[in-house]
Amino acid sequence: MPGLDTVTNGRILFGGDYNPEQWPEETWREDVRLMKDAGVNSVTLGVFSWSRIEPQPGAREFGWLDRLMDVMHAHGVGVVLATPTASPPPWVGHLHPDTLPVDQDGRTEWWGGRQHFSHSSATYRRLAAAITEDLAARYGGHPALTMWHINNEYCTYDWGDEAAARFRHWLRARYGTLDALNEAWGTAFWSQGYGDWAEVHTPRRAHYLKNPTQVLDFKRFTSDMLLECFTAERDIVRRATPHLPVTSNFMPLWAGQDAWRWAAEEDVVSVDLYPDPRDPLGAQHGALVQDMTRSQARGPWMLMEQAAGPVNWRGVNHPKPRGLNRLWSLQAVARGADAVCYFQWRQSRQGAEKFHSGMVGHAGEEGRTYQEVKRLGADLARISARVAGRHTVNDIAVLHDWHAWWASSQEARPSAHVEHADVLHAWHRALWESHLTTDVAHPEHDLAGYKLVVVPQLYLLTDTAIDNLLAYVRGGGTLVSGFLTGVADEDDRVRPGGMDARLRELFGIRTLHEWWPLDPGEHAACDGFRGTLWSEEIEETDDAVVEASYRGGDLDGLPAVLRRDRAWYVSTLPEPGSLRELLARIAAGAGAAPVLADLPARVEAVRRGDLLFLLNHGREAVTVEVPGTHRNLLADTDTDTDTGTGTGTGTGTGAEVTDRITLGRYGVAVLSS
Ligand code: GAL
Repeated sequence: MPGLDTVTNGRILFGGDYNPEQWPEETWREDVRLMKDAGVNSVTLGVFSWSRIEPQPGAREFGWLDRLMDVMHAHGVGVVLATPTASPPPWVGHLHPDTLPVDQDGRTEWWGGRQHFSHSSATYRRLAAAITEDLAARYGGHPALTMWHINNEYCTYDWGDEAAARFRHWLRARYGTLDALNEAWGTAFWSQGYGDWAEVHTPRRAHYLKNPTQVLDFKRFTSDMLLECFTAERDIVRRATPHLPVTSNFMPLWAGQDAWRWAAEEDVVSVDLYPDPRDPLGAQHGALVQDMTRSQARGPWMLMEQAAGPVNWRGVNHPKPRGLNRLWSLQAVARGADAVCYFQWRQSRQGAEKFHSGMVGHAGEEGRTYQEVKRLGADLARISARVAGRHTVNDIAVLHDWHAWWASSQEARPSAHVEHADVLHAWHRALWESHLTTDVAHPEHDLAGYKLVVVPQLYLLTDTAIDNLLAYVRGGGTLVSGFLTGVADEDDRVRPGGMDARLRELFGIRTLHEWWPLDPGEHAACDGFRGTLWSEEIEETDDAVVEASYRGGDLDGLPAVLRRDRAWYVSTLPEPGSLRELLARIAAGAGAAPVLADLPARVEAVRRGDLLFLLNHGREAVTVEVPGTHRNLLADTDTDTDTGTGTGTGTGTGAEVTDRITLGRYGVAVLSS
């Protein structure tokens, strides 16, 4: 299948969603001038253009899009063409109410916003396929077209009747018989046994707690239905243009899609990423999403959307201070992105997102936002030939799985404060702050190449995944796991003993007596650190090594951190600094080294191919020791303190850097040796 490299051809794609139907055609001329000046080489067209293309049922108004495609081609800007199926026109809902999704209370979600389509509606699927066919036929041969973008951020749920019918169909395929479904869902409890398939529904509003396995299956089903919508459109455009790659943009760490499964169906994996500029851990959140996306792509990936300035959907929407857009964009490149794109090119003056920034903001060409975009374009052009297509090799894998996430976020669990995504962030943060770079992997992936495998929390593990973890450790790997791992099987049935017996044996746990979740703000004192969120009453096996015990309280003297050989178990969430130290120690023991020794705290170092990216996430200038002689590929564009300055002089291929480099506020250096 064609990949991102067929589009990039040694460049980094730079651009964004372009919604010119909001603007008169004179503005298009200004747009292309500004795009050229900024080095924009790719735009995504048509994401929400359905009503413009098909204003009445069956109409096709392609003239404006023809002109636009031609204008883009004439100016050397490639087009990622979107199928407009994320926002059906009002006539679709009006004439076909069966296309509208229904919430769990039976209420219809109306048009007037976006994403008001039912993934299960046969009518919606038919209309979406028809417009996709016609777009593919019309533009498949256009020279501006580089890639297809299907829909946008698939994210809808539907509890309606048509969805229920498809859910039954999906369940029949999964279980075969009602007996098997009853067994998997544990319907013996609370008189829930099903005697006829017609009785089975989507998990609608219920008087009290819902059946957890039904809810888990509904999440699996929803992800699969959305995927069916994606693959249906993908296959249409593929038939027309087998030489062009197809993508659909993920939301970052979005709970609604099993992105491992989805990524396998995409030619290019792309993601939208909007860390809060005020969040002190915004860069780490970005790093986690980037690590995950690169791992799903198994190589270079596409940053489909980010904001050049503020978003408009937080309570308070902060702009990006000078330099931050460049820093976070280059962070994505360091972590494997071969495309740096935005929502959207030009900030809207009307509509729901008029207060969301664009690459060209309301302040226009003179505005700081556009000026910084322009500068970034120049930076990307400078480094692209050395960066595009390069892979990254990491020694550490962090495991994540959507099914474990879904199963662990049920109602009526031991602690409502334990959130899978928060625990994942906490463990990734500990590694990130130790300058240990990581991949993210699925628990059934081949892990043999990693020196260390980290399981922040995998509440649900299949037998295959457990075998995989055991084989990994048997093969010489080091494994460290957090609490609530291996608790349930794939039907969310608690494994005997409260945790899989083979895993207990692996970690040296004889008996897991009770979980002792902690209240918010409560701590569990342990040898040398404090635990948060959770603690456990564990009895170790004779051959386990207790690395730290609980001190005081009901668990006094019981193991908090234990291991058997190379398999570690951490039964609480140590405070951030302590988890960092623990993981740094375990990583060192496993032979996984930080990218650079003695890095200042706010500096991130990432290797991509033979390049070393240094990113200063602090507002203060900082000096980094980089033994040897290097060239800073970014240095020629800047003489100010925002970038790295070395001890040497600039040349055509970057300034020479010897032994140390100073990075200004939010400064970045890209060093080649
Ligand atoms: C994304 C979406 C864009 C735009 C953007 C605003 O979720 O794909 O269309 O809404 O958010 O941040």
